[in-house]
Amino acid sequence: MNISVKCTPAMIASESELRHATVVVIDVLRATSTIITALMAGAREVIPAVATDEAVAIAHRLGTDRTILCGERDAIKVQGFHLGNSPAEYTPEVVLGKTIVLTTTNGTPALARARHAERGICGALLNAGEVARYLARREPDELLLLCSGTNGGSSLEDMLAAGAIVAELRTLLPAERFSLTDGARGAMMLFDDLRDDLAGALASSDHGRRLAGLGLEADIRFCAQLNMKDAPVPVIDGSSIRPYHEAEHPGGRMATRFI
Ligand code: MLT
Repeated sequence: MNISVKCTPAMIASESELRHATVVVIDVLRATSTIITALMAGAREVIPAVATDEAVAIAHRLGTDRTILCGERDAIKVQGFHLGNSPAEYTPEVVLGKTIVLTTTNGTPALARARHAERGICGALLNAGEVARYLARREPDELLLLCSGTNGGSSLEDMLAAGAIVAELRTLLPAERFSLTDGARGAMMLFDDLRDDLAGALASSDHGRRLAGLGLEADIRFCAQLNMKDAPVPVIDGSSIRPYHEAEHPGGRMATRFI
């Protein structure tokens, strides 16, 4: 398995790079952390949309009784939407059995890129260990950890989650079964350096400081949790993201619909 890390989606030169790769999309603050939380709380699926009007159109098409329209721009809830992008909003009382239509500034555009991949999943600190176990069972030839970044720049928190996944994979696979690009080695070194205070690292990041300025420190602390119990591996299946249940499909390739 060749493991590489891209700091931003712009580092992907062409879609053909993705076609034969398993891609892990990472947006620790906060899109993929929110998706993991929503699915843990019992949401039926998450449908990512790049633009706000696209999200509105999807929600209308699916019916307002079964969907919840969610998302942010510049970390603030889109006017008229039901929920923003704070994981704390996605409780079982609100999302159980619902389809979440989500649009975010950087995370959902990165997820859209992963639609071209052989397989796409969502990663964050919350599920880093579970993602690594999922990958170690499959051992794809090409693994690309795709950081969403922030407005075209790289994000410390996404690099940390990429590093956490690489570090965990190294404990699961013999050294001769994988190779690391410099980007993957760098992400792992960063994680090793900062792993003892992930909440502090996230709070000091560019986007962490922006969120703190909006009074969202609790989101930072939540998203900084490494390997939250029962955090799922969300799998991108066409236009929908759902949790992968290994118990139901042991070791097998993902079916088109897997719930
Ligand atoms: C994004 O996609 O840019 C974010 O998740 C921003 C945020 O809501 O914190």
